[in-house]
Amino acid sequence: METNNNVFIMDHPLIKHKISMIRDIHTGTNEFRSLVEEIAMLMGYEALRDLPLEDVEVTTPIETCMTPMIAGKKLAIVPILRAGLGMVGGITALVPTAKIGHIGMYRDEVTHEPQEYYCKLPKPIELRTIVVVDPMLATGGSAVDAIDQIKKHGGKHIKFMCIIAAPEGLERLSKAHPDIQIYVGNVDRCLNDDAYICPGLGDAGDRIFGTK
Ligand code: PRP
Ligand code: URA
Repeated sequence: METNNNVFIMDHPLIKHKISMIRDIHTGTNEFRSLVEEIAMLMGYEALRDLPLEDVEVTTPIETCMTPMIAGKKLAIVPILRAGLGMVGGITALVPTAKIGHIGMYRDEVTHEPQEYYCKLPKPIELRTIVVVDPMLATGGSAVDAIDQIKKHGGKHIKFMCIIAAPEGLERLSKAHPDIQIYVGNVDRCLNDDAYICPGLGDAGDRIFGTK
């Protein structure tokens, strides 16, 4: 995993391979959905490396020992609706006890500015490690606003995970929230005039839910 300050870029060949598959216009909804979940799981494995551990007493068939388990209030996964929903299953496969919040955002088609329509977070949010997920970081507006909201509700330990980022969005997010860790599957070339990522994969929400 390449790292630059708080930005971690994935370099695992399985992640690279699966990202290439979801870029393909011929990849259908069903396969796209499965691949997004698999990529989220592989990225989650990397992003959760620093979860705190505490030793607990466990009795094996042989004897009693102290052995490490995840400490504290554990995890909150917060997908940015809609497309972030596609990544949730990949992370709950790793941490089935994670609580799940939701933030509803859509981009205005003309201004490309995010519009928030929903926010519900698990309590106590301030004690949890929060993993915000969205496959696409384009202008960065949605991610910046979502994390603003989470911080307003008291969230402190925040990670953001996306599959594809534009350099513009990555810079905007890391400047707006220098205290969070950002995990990125791949940094693509640029945004086009419609604020879509190039080469990207198109509209992630439409491809996950089959709405186009
Ligand atoms: C997409 C994507 C991000 C956002 C990224 O969602 O899932 O949330 O755009 O763009 P930004 O970085 O420029 O804000 P969209 O607004 O298309 O909504 P949807 O998930 O409901 O389709
Ligand atoms: N949202 C998407 O789903 N895709 C992009 O390329 C940009 C924003």
